[in-house]
Amino acid sequence: MAEKGKIAIYPGSFDPITNGHLDIINRSSKLFDELIVAVSSDNSKETLFSINQRKNMIEQSVSNINNIKIRSFKGLLVDFAYSENIKTVVRGLRALSDFEYEFRMAIMNRNLNEDIETIFLMTHEKYAHISSSLVKEIYFLGGSIADFVPGPVLKGLEKIKDE
Ligand code: COA
Repeated sequence: MAEKGKIAIYPGSFDPITNGHLDIINRSSKLFDELIVAVSSDNSKETLFSINQRKNMIEQSVSNINNIKIRSFKGLLVDFAYSENIKTVVRGLRALSDFEYEFRMAIMNRNLNEDIETIFLMTHEKYAHISSSLVKEIYFLGGSIADFVPGPVLKGLEKIKDE
């Protein structure tokens, strides 16, 4: 099967999307003709937001970028990539501590399908300390997260808190 254009997948749980993820999305959207942001609907993490909420928050946060598609996927990432005929996976690296996890995942994915390559972008140093779990913890303990997440995520969190 011939590969379509220069398309990459940026996968994650995005529970919720943060400014760190947005930085990777922005920068990868300039490197590829199209970027598919793929939201995993069944990895081992328990999520605060439903798959649709996570997708909607991403959609609203990237509406200024026109070569992005947001999709959800179930099952193995390599199977999703294969079914879409996409061979490049993008991941962000924040710190040394990310390396081991990302290294194992990239090698495992290559073992599962050797056609699929993972490439890494170093996160912007501005975002190196941000993570989805820290953002949630700070928010629910009353701290300000306005510098760490896009507006739609703040609204999403407020909605959950009010429920
Ligand atoms: N800047 C700031 N923070 C970042 C970041 C960046 N550039 N990139 C990631 N993060 C943070 C996230 O906020 C998140 O923080 P948390 O752990 O506190 O929640 C963490 O890094 C990782 O989250 P995310 O980027 O959403 O990815 P993930 O590690 O949850 O995603 C999948 C993992 C979905 C890609 C992986 O589990 C998968 O492929 N699942 C499908 C099933 C499969 O194929 N399994 C076999 C894998 S070998």
